[in-house]
Amino acid sequence: MFESLLNCSILKRAQEKDIIRIVLTNIRDFATDSYRKVDDKPYGGGPGMVMMPGPVFDCAEHVQKLSPEKGRGILLTPQGQKFTQAKAVELSKENRLILIAGKYEGFDERIRIGLGAEQVSVGDYVLNGGELAAMVIIDTVVRLLPGALGDEDSPRDESFSNGLLEYPQYTKPEAFRNMKVPDILLSGNHAKIAQWRHQQAIERTKKNRPDLIKNNKF
Ligand SMILES: C[S@@+](CC[C@H](N)C(=O)[O-])C[C@H]1O[C@@H](n2cnc3c(N)ncnc32)[C@H](O)[C@@H]1O
Repeated sequence: MFESLLNCSILKRAQEKDIIRIVLTNIRDFATDSYRKVDDKPYGGGPGMVMMPGPVFDCAEHVQKLSPEKGRGILLTPQGQKFTQAKAVELSKENRLILIAGKYEGFDERIRIGLGAEQVSVGDYVLNGGELAAMVIIDTVVRLLPGALGDEDSPRDESFSNGLLEYPQYTKPEAFRNMKVPDILLSGNHAKIAQWRHQQAIERTKKNRPDLIKNNKF
C-alpha cells in the first residue's frame, strides 16, 4: 500500500535527498504462531476481530530500538484528536515519529493504555485500516520539512497556514469558456494583488469554513 505513495514525487525526492527516512514494519512479523495471527474475537462478544496487544507491543518496542533517538508514538484511531495543519506543523518539528496503524475492529484497549502513544484521527469517518491515515500524516508532514518542496510549490500561503483557506488561483489562458482571469491579477500591481488575495481568502473562508474564522480577526 505504501509503495506507490513513497516512490513518487515529493516523498520520493525527500527520501533521495535524505530529508526523511521511512521504515515500514509489519505488525504481523511479530505474531507468535505459524498463522501469523495478530487479532482475535472481542471479549464480551460482538462483531469483528480486535488486534491483540502482544504483537503490537513487540513491534512498537522493536521499532523504538531501531534508533537511539526516542520516537514520538502516534496511535492512529478514529477515536483520537483530529489531525490538523497545526498538528502537522508540530509533528514536523520532531526528529522521529512512530505511526501505529490498526486494522479490523481496532486495538485491544491495553494497547492504548500501555503504549501511552498519542491518539490521532485523520477525520470523523472510519477507514478500513490505519495505513491511509499514516500516509495522510506522512504526506502532510513531509511537505513542511525544509527543502522537501521546490521553490515553485512553496507552502507559504496555503490553506490553513495563516488560519484562512487559500485565495483563488488562475493560470493560462486568460479567458476560458466565458470566464476571465480577474483584471487585478494581470495589473502587475503586487501590493494591490496581495490585498485582493487576502480579501478573497477571507471571503472564501467565511463562505466555506466559517468555523475557521470564528475565533480569528483578519
Ligand atoms: C475499521 S477501523 C476500527 C474502528 C473502531 N472499531 C472504532 O469504531 O473506533 C480499523 C483501523 O483503521 C484505522 N482508522 C480508521 N479510521 C481512522 C481515522 N479516521 N483516523 C485514523 N485511523 C483510522 C485505525 O488504525 C483503526 O484501528
